[in-house]
Order: sequence, then structure tokens, then C-alpha cells
Amino acid sequence: MVSPVPPTSDSVRVRVPAKVNLALKVGPRRRDGFHPLATVYHAVSLFDEVTVSHAEPGHFSVTVTGEGAPAVPRDDTNLALRAARLLASSFGDERAGVRMEIAKSIPVAGGLAGGSADGAAALLACSLLWDLDLSPEQLRRVGSLLGSDVPFALLGGTALGRGRGEEVMPALARGTFHWVLGFGQQGLSTPAVYRRFDELHPRPPAPVVPVELMEALRAGDPKALGAALVNDLQGPALDLHPRLGRTLSAGLELGAVGAIVSGSGPTVAFLAADEAGAVDLAVALSAEAVCRSIRRPSGPVLGARPI
Ligand code: C5P
Repeated sequence: MVSPVPPTSDSVRVRVPAKVNLALKVGPRRRDGFHPLATVYHAVSLFDEVTVSHAEPGHFSVTVTGEGAPAVPRDDTNLALRAARLLASSFGDERAGVRMEIAKSIPVAGGLAGGSADGAAALLACSLLWDLDLSPEQLRRVGSLLGSDVPFALLGGTALGRGRGEEVMPALARGTFHWVLGFGQQGLSTPAVYRRFDELHPRPPAPVVPVELMEALRAGDPKALGAALVNDLQGPALDLHPRLGRTLSAGLELGAVGAIVSGSGPTVAFLAADEAGAVDLAVALSAEAVCRSIRRPSGPVLGARPI
């Protein structure tokens, strides 16, 4: 259940993880503009924090600090603000108001679902602040109205994603995987990457997650997982940002057991054989100066949780 925080709290803080897609198979564009996906989400220990407190009825505001903060919108396109308003109108008091602070570590437009993570954290935080007593299933359903990756940010762990990504189901996975993430110089627009996918693949087959990847997860085998990582958006992202190709090969030459563009990019995710391997790889990649910034999270971790 979602509610260890007493209803009398003046403020609620929620921590929420970034995700990488271990598999991202994309089918033909649907009539509604979205693409059917067969994906494996994996939550990693790179977290944003969203803190909410009561405000005047009808007042919704947000402040943002940390990684990429100037690029985060403060208006009604902000996913965390939209989450709070949606929750208030669906389940809460129409006169609810909220003051929100987002402390970011997940880069903006990085392919790590940072915006969706903030939306998910805002949903959970406001549901606790307003003592709404919603089930995880109800929260995920509201989350799916905000964005395709929001239900997974609530769930966390390692999970299969179907539909446009919003239908999530926990996947069997053993052990901990050690990652090195390389952030790009600029962000990439998700719709632009999907558009390039459509241009490059006019008739893609129905998306299916590779069996070898699910076996590698069940076995907890980083080498097998590294070999099975797959992302249909990697080609389109490389087409838009050719420099990412150099980053991917640099990581592999330096000992990564797998390398993949995360989601729609431009973050590159390198899988290491173990924790020591991740430390070595992070140091070596820093020296190569192929990324703006490097992080070394592990996964899987829990989804959005109050702290
Ligand atoms: O659902 P979300 O708001 O994260 O999607 C952002 C954009 O990414 C969509 O407007 C769409 O252009 C693209 N998208 C897609 N197919 C998906 C998920 C996202 O085409 N399954």
C-alpha cells in the first residue's frame, strides 16, 4: 500500500527513479499517433525528489532546482503540476491547492523519463497530502492519462510494458545490475525521434521482447543481458545525433558488457559486469570526455516512494 505518512502531514516528499529501457521494440504508428511497444523497463538509482505542501485553494505552483532545472517548464505543461490538478479534479477537493518543489537529478529530455518520474511522484505525494487512500492500481490508471512512462515510474523494479508503454507488469529478474550513464550535451525530443523512426521504418513488424533478454534477466547474467539489450529508437536517435555512435563504441572499447541509447536518447546506458567494472568504466569514460556528465546507478530499485 502507498500510505505510511499520516494524513496530518503538512508536507510530503517522494523520491522517484529514472528508467532505462532494456528492450524497446516499436511497432507501426497507431491512429492516435502513439506507437505500440513491447518494452522492458528497469528503474535505476538516479532519483528526483518532489515535495508537496498545502497552498491556498486553487493555487498550484512549482519551483525546480538541480540538474537541467532552467529547462523545466513552470507553466501548465509541467507534468507534476498537471498531475496535481488531474488528481484534484478526479478524486480530491476542487478547492485543493499545492506548492511543489522538484529537486532534479534526472536530466531533462534525456530518455530517462525524468518528466514522467516527476509526474508520478507528484501523483503519489498529492494523494498522500490529501489523504485520498488510492490503491496503487488507481494511481497507475491516473498516471497513464499523464504519460506513457508514468505508470512504470510508480511501479519501479523491472517490468514489461505493453500498449503505448502504460500497461506494466513486473518481470522476473535476479540480482543487481551496475550501470554507467553518459548524459548528452543537449536533449532529444521524443516525438522527433519517433517521427524519424517512422521515416526509417515505414512498415515495422509487431513488437516482441527478445526471449534471450528475459532469460538473461531471470539468470541475473550481466554479460548475457548486455548482449541482448535492444532499442528500435537507437537508429533514429543516432541519425539525429550522430555523435552518440562514438560514445557507444567508446564505452564498449573500455569494457562495457553492453551499450544502448536509453529510450529516445540522448543518454547512453552502459552495462558493467559488476560494481568494480562500473567504477573503472566511469573513470575511463570521464577521461575520454565523450559525455557531458556521467552517473553510476544500479538497478532495479523501487518506484516512487515517500521518504
Ligand atoms: O506518452 P508521452 O507523453 O510520454 O509521449 C510523448 C510523445 O512520444 C508522444 O506525443 C508521441 O509522439 C511519442 N510516443 C509514441 N509512442 C509511444 C509513446 C510515446 O509515439 N508508445
